[in-house]
Amino acid sequence: ATQTTVIKNGTIVTHDLTVRADVLVAGGVIAAIGPNLSGDHVIDATGCLIMPGGIDPHTHLEMPFMGTFSADDFESGTRAALAGGTTMVVDFALPDPGQSLMDALAVWSNKSARAHCDYSFHMAVTWWGQRVFDEMEQVAAAGITSFKHFMAYKGSLMVNDDEMFASFRRIADLGGLAMIHAENGDIVAEMAAKLLAAGTTGPEGHAYSRPAQVEGEATNRAIMIADMAGVPLYIVHTSCEESHEAIRRARQAGKRVWGEPLIQHLVLDETEYFHPDWDHAARRVMSPPFRNKAHQDSLWAGLAAGSLSCVATDHCAFTTAQKRFGLGDFTKIPNGTGGLEDRLPVLWTCGVGTGRLTPNEFVAVTSTNIAKILNCYPRKGAVAVGSDADLIIWDPEAEKTISAAGHQSNSDFNVFEGMKVRGLPRYTLSRGVVAFADGKVTAPEGHGAFVPRKGTTPVNTALQAWKELTNPRPVVRSGLPVTGV
Ligand code: URP
Ligand code: ZN
Ligand code: ZN
Ligand code: ZN
Repeated sequence: ATQTTVIKNGTIVTHDLTVRADVLVAGGVIAAIGPNLSGDHVIDATGCLIMPGGIDPHTHLEMPFMGTFSADDFESGTRAALAGGTTMVVDFALPDPGQSLMDALAVWSNKSARAHCDYSFHMAVTWWGQRVFDEMEQVAAAGITSFKHFMAYKGSLMVNDDEMFASFRRIADLGGLAMIHAENGDIVAEMAAKLLAAGTTGPEGHAYSRPAQVEGEATNRAIMIADMAGVPLYIVHTSCEESHEAIRRARQAGKRVWGEPLIQHLVLDETEYFHPDWDHAARRVMSPPFRNKAHQDSLWAGLAAGSLSCVATDHCAFTTAQKRFGLGDFTKIPNGTGGLEDRLPVLWTCGVGTGRLTPNEFVAVTSTNIAKILNCYPRKGAVAVGSDADLIIWDPEAEKTISAAGHQSNSDFNVFEGMKVRGLPRYTLSRGVVAFADGKVTAPEGHGAFVPRKGTTPVNTALQAWKELTNPRPVVRSGLPVTGV
């Protein structure tokens, strides 16, 4: 008979309720929730909260980017995830411009073989052509129903508006979700070149070349293009009020648009780029760059108000040696920062610990909302009978000081170095297996499984309008044109 595990003496916290009950796990799923349950093994959750495992919808593991590969692969990245209470990551399969999407997917499937925790993929659309159009259907049939577009990184990953529009319409037909990195890549390239020519070569040039306006402009543009295409739109790494404002307005108008602030943008600010130590500043170079306090307040408010939906990491870790590729030219500093292990503890500390978020809102923005948006709820993102037993036994009193010295990531630094957090996972369970306990990741490599998703995301309200545009009613005119009106 299957061995069962019961989690006793804890308080279940989901996105919509807080209740004291035991949780019985059998065969990798939640078998029962209620008082006085018993099982073969007991996990004592005294003093702890039982929450759905975190889902990080935005990671770049072993990503080929800016002449190198991001330093965490699926092995170290998913190890970091579990150590921080995250039980599922969604990574971006990234075809080279010109490359087959299915070939890129095969590459990503290979890379993910060593994953310690469950994972899914988004497919990046980095170029456009008949082949991409055709393959998108196969990609969706393989369970990857979200497609990401870069409006920045001119000359490599960027797609233009006509390509984005064509792709969005295809995604709408497939019932999928469009995603965008919203920065105006033409203007970023122009500003970066001007700054370099004027002698600004340090990491601060990165921030100067990517002001909030380039993000706000691209967010507005993508929202309007998605509206015409009739496709739901997910905006990754929303970092500023200009972008948040566009998302808020779209949502209020009934559009299916979601925004995703990163834990880094919520707590780290632009002053990092003016640090006198080049390494310190370069280690924090990512796109969009960190912003000022007013933008951070906007993001926190959006999470509380529901106008922003998910907190991710965009985990794209590099080493100091890799960051130094950009000594003398900030445009060559690999863009990206890590956060997989720290997302939940930092958000709990700076969000729940300060009263900016309730514990239930914490669950919503770290797990449940994205499970719904990506169509894997309630298999993931829920503490409910029948759901995967991806659970965190969360000790709200446990403390540590974040440091690269003890972290799981392959990077030699941590952007949250020295931050004292209060609230940590005591245990992380992945499909019923104790995956993290006593400070150690215990789920074996290869334990992680691919989570396929269906494409049933709701369409934008403008879909009808677009259909009318593509099949315009002929205007019947008779007689002479009327003049002089
Ligand atoms: O700087 C970043 N964000 N690097 C990762 C790639 C991306 O744009 O998400
Ligand atoms: Zn991006
Ligand atoms: Zn990213
Ligand atoms: Zn390992």
